Parts: sequence; C-alpha cells; structure tokens
Amino acid sequence: MSVRIAVGAQWGDEGKGKIIDLLSSRSYLVVRYQGGANAGHTVKINEKKFILHMIPSGVLHENTVSAIGNGVVFDYESFISELDTLKMEGINPEGRLFLSPYAHVVMPYHKEIDRALENSRKNKIGTTFKGIGPAYQDKISRCGIRVADILDKDYFPIILKNNIDLKNQMFEALYREKDKFDFNKIYNECLEKFEFIKKYVKDVSIMIDEAYNQNKSILFEGAQGTLLDIDHGTYPFVTSSNTTSGGVCTGTGISPTRIDSVLGVMKAYTTRVGNGPFVTELFDEVGKYLSDKGHEIGATTGRPRRCGYYDALIARYSVRVNGISSLALTKIDVLGGLDKIKVCVGYKYKNEILKEFVPVSNVLEKCEPVYEELDGWKEDISEIKNYNDLPLNTRKYIDYIEKVSNVPVEIVSVGPERNQSIFK
Ligand code: IMP
Repeated sequence: MSVRIAVGAQWGDEGKGKIIDLLSSRSYLVVRYQGGANAGHTVKINEKKFILHMIPSGVLHENTVSAIGNGVVFDYESFISELDTLKMEGINPEGRLFLSPYAHVVMPYHKEIDRALENSRKNKIGTTFKGIGPAYQDKISRCGIRVADILDKDYFPIILKNNIDLKNQMFEALYREKDKFDFNKIYNECLEKFEFIKKYVKDVSIMIDEAYNQNKSILFEGAQGTLLDIDHGTYPFVTSSNTTSGGVCTGTGISPTRIDSVLGVMKAYTTRVGNGPFVTELFDEVGKYLSDKGHEIGATTGRPRRCGYYDALIARYSVRVNGISSLALTKIDVLGGLDKIKVCVGYKYKNEILKEFVPVSNVLEKCEPVYEELDGWKEDISEIKNYNDLPLNTRKYIDYIEKVSNVPVEIVSVGPERNQSIFK
C-alpha cells in the first residue's frame, strides 16, 4: 500500500499523463486535486492517443477508481465530451469515476471573462481560455458555485441569479455589453447536464479515507507544474491553483500525515507554453530540434511549446517545495542525436551567480544561464528496456541530473508508450 503524489516539476507538459497512466495500474484510487480543463494529459496505448483534460488519467485502467477532488474547478462540458470519446473507444467508467460535490464549477461566463481579461491585459499570461482564473477567483471571493449547489434545486437559482447579475454589471461597465449572460439559458443547461452528471457525485475525502483504511494504494494526479503554482510559480505567469504537492491536502481532504512519497515528473530538457520568464530558453537550432523531435505542441491549446535545456535550479527548487523523493525523467530519447547537451547550473544576475531558483519573474527575466556541457549520444534509445543497456553517455547524463538536482531518478521514459519506460 502506498499514498503517492505525482507532480509536474517544471512548467507542466512534463509527460505526467503517461507516468500517471503507468502508476495507475498499481493504484486502487487515482485522484485529481487542482486545475481544470486547462490540463492536457496525453496517454498513448497501442498507437491510440487519448488526451484527457478533465477526467483523471487513471480512468484508462478498468480496475482503477478515479476521482476529481474538491480543489479542481470542474468543467462539465469537457467532462461530458471526454466521457463520450471514452465510450466510443469502448471505455465506460461509470461506477469507477467520481466527482466531489465540493468542487467549484466552471460556468460559461468564466470562460468569457477569461478571454475578456486576457485580451485586455498588457502583459498577457497566455491563459488557455478555459475559465480557470475566473472560476478560482469566484471561489476565493466566496461567490462560486459548487457541484452540490447545482444539485440543490432551491439554492441553485438564487446563487446563479446573483452571479449572473454581477457578471452582467461587470460586462456592461467594462465592455459596454448589456445583458451578456442569459440566466435561463445557463440555468437550463446546468440542470440538464447535472441531471446526467449526478450519478458520478460522491464525497471524495470519504472515499480516500476508506481506501486508506483498507490499505489500498492511492495516487494523486497533479496537473500543470510546480512553476505554474499560484504561490510557488513564476507569478504572475502562473495558473490559479496550487499545483505543488501541498495542494493535495486542501484539494482532496486527505491529511498530510498520510502521504508517503512524491514523484516529480521532469522532462530531460525544459518546455513552457504561454508567456513568462524561461532562463534556459533556446532560440537556435537545438531549440528547434527539441521542438520538432519532441513534438512540443500544447495538448490543450495546440500552441507550440518553448524549448530549452534542463535547469538544475528549477529541479532543486521543485524538489524542495514539493518534497520530491524521486524523479520520473521523461522524453530523454528526444536528446539523442545532439553532440553536446547543456545543463544549467547557475544564473548570472547582475554581478552575481545565483545558485538557487528565485520565483520572481522580474529577476528571472534578467538572468542568464550558466551551463555545464555534457557529451551527447547518437543511438536511438526508444526501444531499450533495461537501464544498463542505455548508452554510457545517456547514463552519465542521468547521473549528472541526479547529482545537480539532489534527487534519485526512479523511472526513465524513452517514448510515449506504456512499455517505453525503464525502472532504474
Ligand atoms: P490558465 O491555467 O488557463 O489560467 O493559464 C495560465 C498559464 O498556465 C498559461 O501560461 C498556460 O499556458 C499555462 N498552463 C495552464 N495549464 C497548463 C498545462 O496543463 N500545461 C502547461 N501549461 C499550462
């Protein structure tokens, strides 16, 4: 029995979908704790590609129970459309997929507000337009609507009316648009959709407690990554939730004393989608090589991801704030073919060399990377199954990553398929 968290250790898109899928087969319960349909977890099984935004990746294993915790902002449109896609593939998760009644709901107006706010920002964040920020904003402002609120037939019309009046006033004042949101339309849509969704609703904290007491393995599935955390990320270029391991307790209702370990999912290089500082970003041929070979296109928005070298300052920071006990190092096959591979071991900032990551965008924008250079390898490693069969320089690169990141590597991922994973 184990209680584990799998968390993205960089800016998201580290390949969590595949790693969580791999670990899900050994877990009884897989729970998402934050974020919403802004996540894009890609899982490839037998040449078939699944991209899940709202539903936990654990759903692809028929013996695994999946749950969406209270810390998630629930996108019902995305949930229903993913269920439809899964059903077309012969996967029906009813009876083993659950949703916390205490999760806040992303309402149609949240998506419109997300777009309007982003368009009016001078310094754009590059949001996914999935309504994430505005939904969390309402949660913190104490006017949000939870799943349980929609299921309460007396309360829902009252709280929805309050919200729509407020949002309409805001749109009129800011954008001169009158009666932007229609109460009846949104009310009827929610009633219809939640009539279908209600069978999935169950107290997730109690489910976790029961699984724990029965000594069953539990996995918490992080979305986005450490540097997109609202508190520990590169603010303001972050998402609106606690993506780091601390978010698990508040986002699901498990106590911190019950967590055994944290697995950091880390790409063997670095990528970022959206705006914000990125010290090791490459604008040269190596950047293009990583982007092309790694198919670095955002799973949710289809935007190209920015690419750069591995950053040991980010790694150590992530290990520290998440309590990462081991790493899943992903996409290392993509580095194959490069003559030399650089790893960032310090930041030159003004006249100093910084050895620790600073989560301050203004500082990071002015930092230049200090690199160590390692020899690359030419071999295709994507079919290798045993650690010791990896080329010497690949193993040297992994050893170096372990040393500069202060953490052991547990899993090495050499391709998108489940079986392209080496347990070290
Ligand atoms: P939001 O989460 O849509 O508000 O977007 C905030 C920032 O987080 C933007 O830079 C997005 O590109 C980024 N972001 C959100 N979700 C993900 C993800 O799953 N992977 C990578 N970046 C993400």
